Amino acid sequence: MDAELEKVGVVGVGWVGLVSATCFAELGHEIVALDVNEEKVEALRRGEVTIHEPGLAELLKTNAERITFTTSMDDVLASARLLFCCVDTPPTYSGDADLSRVRSVVEQLPEGSDHALVMKSTVPSGTGASIRRGKPDLPYISCPEFLKEGSAIQDFMHPDRVVIGADADAEKAADAVERLYAPLGGEIVRTDVASAEMIKLASNAFLATKISFINEIANVCEQTGADVTEVARGMGLDERIGASFLQAGIGYGGSCFPKDVSALKQLAGNSGYHFQLLNAVIEVNELQKRRVIAKLEKHLGSLADKRVALLGLAFKPDTDDMREASSLVLSARLQGEGAEVVAYDPVAEGTASAMLPDVHMAGSATEALHGADAAVLVTEWPEFSELDWASVRESMNTPILIDGRNYLDPEMIRAAGLVYEGIGRQDAKNGEG
Ligand code: UDX
Repeated sequence: MDAELEKVGVVGVGWVGLVSATCFAELGHEIVALDVNEEKVEALRRGEVTIHEPGLAELLKTNAERITFTTSMDDVLASARLLFCCVDTPPTYSGDADLSRVRSVVEQLPEGSDHALVMKSTVPSGTGASIRRGKPDLPYISCPEFLKEGSAIQDFMHPDRVVIGADADAEKAADAVERLYAPLGGEIVRTDVASAEMIKLASNAFLATKISFINEIANVCEQTGADVTEVARGMGLDERIGASFLQAGIGYGGSCFPKDVSALKQLAGNSGYHFQLLNAVIEVNELQKRRVIAKLEKHLGSLADKRVALLGLAFKPDTDDMREASSLVLSARLQGEGAEVVAYDPVAEGTASAMLPDVHMAGSATEALHGADAAVLVTEWPEFSELDWASVRESMNTPILIDGRNYLDPEMIRAAGLVYEGIGRQDAKNGEG
């Protein structure tokens, strides 16, 4: 099997699938991309990209001729031998990953063919072994994705590493996958399937741990008068620690961290091991979203009938993804306290309004802030740093800003006449928070 001469099959054209299909096409490969959702396939054939990922729509347009979108597995099987499985694996109520879509893909692969399945979907350690028990002849590769929403194309084209997990009998298919990724220059980590699966879960759980750790440091900083942004800077310069994922805030969200942390905890639990640390990581993250309520109450007293403006709703900037976004918990808690919630997000309004039916969606940040008793910056969209904060101060009922991402310059906001409070920053010390 020579990847240079093969078409690449992509099964599941969600965010991972579409980014992967488009980037492989950009590398010059022919792609057959399947999704069961006919409407989505029709839209993609017309070149319409419904997810917000910077640069994706443009790159898809440039490479349109190399990508065929289909709803038929037969089309994929007829033309591609390397099949990248990119279907989603959402968490179930128990915290386990729902693998039904993965199983459905596997069931459609004919026995005795020379197709190889390359697993990109996040699956618990052991999934590869379980699939191989059902289909012993299927060459199976675990190739976890490490893309970040908002910078997925950049991440795909410039990977830190590419993990390719294969057991001895799938080495040829693994070689073909390696050839596909070789031009990108990232270090290739060849390993067995179980280890590759664990690298993915452990990496995301570790990054989530880093965030919960710095969030707890921030909470202690609020007691001691230290400033967590300074602390993180000082810590991050130690190469052993590293500067990334040390931004304190109101908790991590998104489609990966919450899911993967709980999947790893569950995986450990299923085999009788109590993963104590991850319980704390999850609990700290939940509490962190709620701490904003206490900050608001400190300034406003009861929140009943107070108007609170949320700046940003998406789980992070440059995406319209609302999965596990801190804004969901925060707005529910505010409404539970009797507050009126008005929100603005530059791109997530469409995805957010169905999930937040009782939140008034404003057309701009200025509109959301008008008449508000307090504002909470939830997502660090760049446009929030460019607001005319002196005018904002005039338009607010009471000029209180809780910066849930430590994104804005406290001096600039205070100079504009607002009360600024971040997460673990030196607000109280200056007598202004
Ligand atoms: C993550 C992983 O980074 C990526 O490798 C994996 O493939 C998918 O999961 P993503 O969910 O797109 O990517 O977002 P990321 O940029 O990692 O941020 C996740 C969450 O953590 C966001 O809610 C973000 O606001 C939060 N975060 C991140 C912090 O609170 N502090 C930080 O220092 C970094």
